[in-house]
Amino acid sequence: MTKKRILSGMRPTGPLHIGHLVGALANWIDLQDEFECYYMVADWHALMSEYANPVDIPKNSTDNVTDWLACGIDPEKSTIFVQSDVPEHTELHVILSCITPIPWLERVPTYKEQMQEVKDKDLTNYAFLGYPCLQAADILIYKAGVVPVGEDQVAHLELTREITRRFNSMYGEVFPEPKPRLTKTARLLGLDRRKMSKSYGNAIEIGESPEETRKKIMTMFTDPQRQRRSDPGRPEICNVHDYFKVFAPDRADAVAEGCRNAEIGCVDCKKEIAERLNQYLQPIRARRSDLAAHPDKIEDILSEGCKKARRIAAATLDEARQAMGIGRSRVTVD
Ligand code: TRP
Ligand code: SF4
Repeated sequence: MTKKRILSGMRPTGPLHIGHLVGALANWIDLQDEFECYYMVADWHALMSEYANPVDIPKNSTDNVTDWLACGIDPEKSTIFVQSDVPEHTELHVILSCITPIPWLERVPTYKEQMQEVKDKDLTNYAFLGYPCLQAADILIYKAGVVPVGEDQVAHLELTREITRRFNSMYGEVFPEPKPRLTKTARLLGLDRRKMSKSYGNAIEIGESPEETRKKIMTMFTDPQRQRRSDPGRPEICNVHDYFKVFAPDRADAVAEGCRNAEIGCVDCKKEIAERLNQYLQPIRARRSDLAAHPDKIEDILSEGCKKARRIAAATLDEARQAMGIGRSRVTVD
């Protein structure tokens, strides 16, 4: 039986953190056996918001791929590539942009939100409005039936489905309608209990040193009502306890109990989770520094991934052009 095809991507806007690891990446890793997976560095999508300062995008791209591999994305099983290496995405994007009404784009909740909230960048550019249209091209160029994403991407997927229906009804059934597959794991919050993000300065990076991790953990927000060591605490609202549940589940119940009875202090509690988190990350960090010492290996994986991706992408693009009756059929890229 042929496996269903999956595509997902991440924007290379900075180093990956443990929120990415227990969220998206853990999910990607799990899916590798069951599906034919395409995992992409969405560098055009990064450029749409980072165009004023694009210098870090290439380095972030290879660094992120290094993290993926260190965490367990396996190039023998999955096709790993950089979006801008596969030009067929942008060509399909032009095609889809012809049939995407601007109001569909304007009503996407993430777009409205970002326009209001992001103050340090000018997001009134044309490309940023079309962000979900390129995302639709990313997915459809591989005819991916399933797209693993977080909650925040569901509206983008819905738009992809609408664009797909519109294309198929206008030019014939070329594309399957992709379904979102939501990440199951609980979201890990940042040190200050807001969403974990590099831009909030509250993230623990996969590639940082154990010492940095330890220092950061010691600054974590806890139960604000627990002022003194003798005050009973409320693990259910404490971020440190959430980290126990994810990285040291065998200790989570005992810690909760000790916290409620004021038998453990917050400092010791944090020291313990810092130790456990560093233990959890140790093999990943070791693989990561091995890989980082051999950048040519990463380059080989990406150029192999690009070749595999282009074979499929070029064939789909040809089909789309033929369905619309535009241009000549091309020699397929090999
Ligand atoms: N928009 C996605 C994000 O910010 C990244 C992305 C780009 C993507 N293209 C995609 C995700 C295609 C899934 C499928 O996380
Ligand atoms: Fe949080 Fe641990 Fe302090 Fe309880 S003891 S409030 S779980 S840090």
